[in-house]
Amino acid sequence: MKEWYKNRQKEYYFNEAKKNNLISRAYYKIEEIDKKQRILGNNQRVLDLGCSPGGWIQYITKKYPNSKILGIDLLDLKIEKNKNTNFLKEDLNNYNDVCKYLQDHNLIFDNIISDIAPNTSGIQSVDQSKSHQLCELCFAFVDKYLNKNGNFLIKNFQGEDTQSLFNEIKKKFSKTIYIKPKASEKVSKEIYILALSKK
Ligand SMILES: C[S@@+](CC[C@H](N)C(=O)[O-])C[C@H]1O[C@@H](n2cnc3c(N)ncnc32)[C@H](O)[C@@H]1O
Repeated sequence: MKEWYKNRQKEYYFNEAKKNNLISRAYYKIEEIDKKQRILGNNQRVLDLGCSPGGWIQYITKKYPNSKILGIDLLDLKIEKNKNTNFLKEDLNNYNDVCKYLQDHNLIFDNIISDIAPNTSGIQSVDQSKSHQLCELCFAFVDKYLNKNGNFLIKNFQGEDTQSLFNEIKKKFSKTIYIKPKASEKVSKEIYILALSKK
């Protein structure tokens, strides 16, 4: 058995996810953020960027069954979709194609949430820079596709660009905070930026 797999297996949340038939421990991250900050709700429209394998979608559909979700990812979902969930298999770097899809389907959202993570190289500065680029791409959807008073959540690999990204986001929202959920490994550089209530 590979070392990383052994390590992950030891993790409490990984085991919990397995025990509870959840597709990923990411479920617990959105659950904690949502319980603390009340960002999601029933009858809302949610854009979930980097949604595969589908843990966040599992949480939203379980907790808010009437919410309508569009998930986008390079990779296929590994969960069953329900009638309120749509999936677009697409690379976010093809930003114009994604925008065309959103426009063609007349979509605008109450929440844009992203757990996008780049393939990691192990070189911290490279991974942080890739993560930053992906965050900027996600942020680019806010102006046109997030409703007034809507919320925006993104994952970022903390680095020298994190604070400037935070400041950039902050300008457009009433309140912006950092969150490190318990299910996020302490050693990992990942942190979430949560921006509440678009101005
Ligand atoms: C940590 S996983 C997301 C887990 C998910 N929130 C869940 O609950 O199951 C990060 C995802 O980001 C996706 N991703 C990375 N780069 C992407 C890109 N350029 N466009 C679309 N998705 C991307 C990966 O394919 C991966 O599925």
